[in-house]
Amino acid sequence: MSKEKVILKITDLHKAFGDKQVHKGVSLSLKEGELIALFGGSGTGKSVILRSIIGLEKPDKGSIVFEGQEITQLSEKELVRIRTQIGFVFQNGALFDSLTVEENLAYPLIEHTNLSNKEISERVEEMLEMIDMKGSNKLLPAELSGGMQKRTGLARATILRPKVILFDEPTAGLDPVNTKRLLKNIKTLKSRGMTGIFVTHDIPAAFEISDRIAFLNDGKIHVIDTIENIQKSNDSFVQSFISEAMGHHE
Ligand SMILES: Nc1ncnc2c1ncn2[C@@H]1O[C@H](COP(=O)(O)OP(=O)(O)O)[C@@H](O)[C@H]1O
Ligand SMILES: [Mg+2]
Repeated sequence: MSKEKVILKITDLHKAFGDKQVHKGVSLSLKEGELIALFGGSGTGKSVILRSIIGLEKPDKGSIVFEGQEITQLSEKELVRIRTQIGFVFQNGALFDSLTVEENLAYPLIEHTNLSNKEISERVEEMLEMIDMKGSNKLLPAELSGGMQKRTGLARATILRPKVILFDEPTAGLDPVNTKRLLKNIKTLKSRGMTGIFVTHDIPAAFEISDRIAFLNDGKIHVIDTIENIQKSNDSFVQSFISEAMGHHE
């Protein structure tokens, strides 16, 4: 379970695109070892929160502190180092199309570590085993199913053993079997102490794997609480969000 050390602290984020005010004071603390599921309607700014954490978006105001360091003020070069410590699982897997599965997985290790070739291939094999893709080393992304692409994306985002992992709707577009496989992989990572934020519309999945649930609404974190408390919440927004999402799930 989660220890009390806060590894990532977001305070009072504001962000507008043109005259559209997306964030109006987003605050969120992520503790070491915990997984927070982040819910919110489409276009409410969930992806922009994740992108801001790794410096792909600059907030207009507010602060993001990762391990004592203010992210919003870092140079592009310093952000590269931060991105080795904060993994990002993009919605589409974000694999390099011209590289094989093993080359995609080895890439971050070659780029950011001094591991030997032998150590790199050991780490790649270990990851392939975790994602149930042993033997898929030489396949190209186009030769993979959607589920395999997502799992490869997960493996690539975690192969540097980042301290925090951000998931942007990792199960979107997956059928139930592949959703289950991906969730199993995320659970494995969690049992090894992974810390992360998981953006999803999949309420059953979130209840299954996360420690706390946050609701983004009207530019702010409307509620954040444990699953137990969320399930018995009297908050009308939380209740209608959950019943609507469960309805879509049927
Ligand atoms: N780079 C951008 N330029 C202009 N508008 C953007 C940009 N990125 C996001 N937005 C807008 O910000 C809002 C929130 O986007 P996003 O974080 O992607 O929502 P979601 O909660 O669905 O992930 C949307 O209205 C989107 O159109
Ligand atoms: Mg999004």
